Amino acid sequence: MTDALPMRVPAPGLPARVTIHEVGARDGLQNEKTTVPTAVKAEFIHRLAAAGLGTIEATSFVHPKWVPQLADAGELMPLLADVDAHLPVLVPNERGLEHALALGVREISVFGSATEAFAKANLNRTVDESLAMFEPVVAKARAAGATVRGYLSMCFGDPWEGSVPVPQVAAVARRLYDLGCDQLSLGDTIGVATPGHVTALLAALEDQGLPVDRLAVHFHDTYGQALSNTLAALQRGVTTVDASAGGLGGCPYAKSATGNLATEDLVWMLNGLGIDTGVDLHRLTATSVWMAEQLGRPSPSRTVRALSHQES
Ligand code: HMG
Ligand code: MG
Repeated sequence: MTDALPMRVPAPGLPARVTIHEVGARDGLQNEKTTVPTAVKAEFIHRLAAAGLGTIEATSFVHPKWVPQLADAGELMPLLADVDAHLPVLVPNERGLEHALALGVREISVFGSATEAFAKANLNRTVDESLAMFEPVVAKARAAGATVRGYLSMCFGDPWEGSVPVPQVAAVARRLYDLGCDQLSLGDTIGVATPGHVTALLAALEDQGLPVDRLAVHFHDTYGQALSNTLAALQRGVTTVDASAGGLGGCPYAKSATGNLATEDLVWMLNGLGIDTGVDLHRLTATSVWMAEQLGRPSPSRTVRALSHQES
């Protein structure tokens, strides 16, 4: 491991602080061929928190046949009672919500789609049916004092439908937000976004009256665009960025999706720009190297490789 850090040279028009929404334990591990033991997941999340990540998506309360890698959600949550971080979880429906609330979870995410094809593939519902499924979930979560994040997938392209028109995304985003979400995370599920497209979508959402401080971005790095897209989003005022330690990730119901933007790559860029994240890059890199050993393959993150001299 080296202790290299980039030189800090701020650029104009960027926020002073960015909140990283760490998704490696959920978006990353849901896409692994092997199921990681519950104790390893718990250690991973403890290590992420110790590296300074304040929000760590822990798991999903979904049908175990759909995502067998996260079937241990009920066993995992009690092992995280002492973790000093926000630990949101994904819930698609009331069944998942009830299970999560019973375990003391008070931060949940529903996950919708801008396209019909992915709504069907991921939730076995149309877009309308999935929003109808979320309505009581959001209402009951809020009544229980929980915060709600709404994910919107396929905001920039869909493997079955191809291009997704910006007005179509903006319209579904508005409907999802209006269910009562505290935050909307814009998913580039298959990593096809480019910076101009990000700027155009954020402008369309602003036109729809969605406040930029309620928006987060969720980029997958399939075509190496995730960091450029993040910079475009920061320039438009977004301050919450989803990322996955070591670049783990993908989506089992969207075949061409690869890993998320790697948290280390994001932290390297934000450090260089003088933007505060609270994350200790070297502790985080050591965690991703350890996780790569558990998974038996190197991290795809360029920063992890550079800092750890890990072979590709
Ligand atoms: P369905 O088959 O339509 O479910 O699936 P159903 O409501 O008809 O129920 C069928 C059976 O499932 C019943 O059991 C239910 O009790 C059970 P049976 O009576 O047959 O024994 N069931 C459940 N069991 C456990 N937990 C639950 C649950 N709900 C029903 N919560 C369903 C509908 C939504 C359940 C299913 O489609 C599902 O679980 N989908 C999850 C897919 C998923 O997790 N995808 C990955 C996350 S999204 C993502 O990665 C994208 C993101 O990263 C952003 C981006 O990149 O764009 C967020
Ligand atoms: Mg994702």
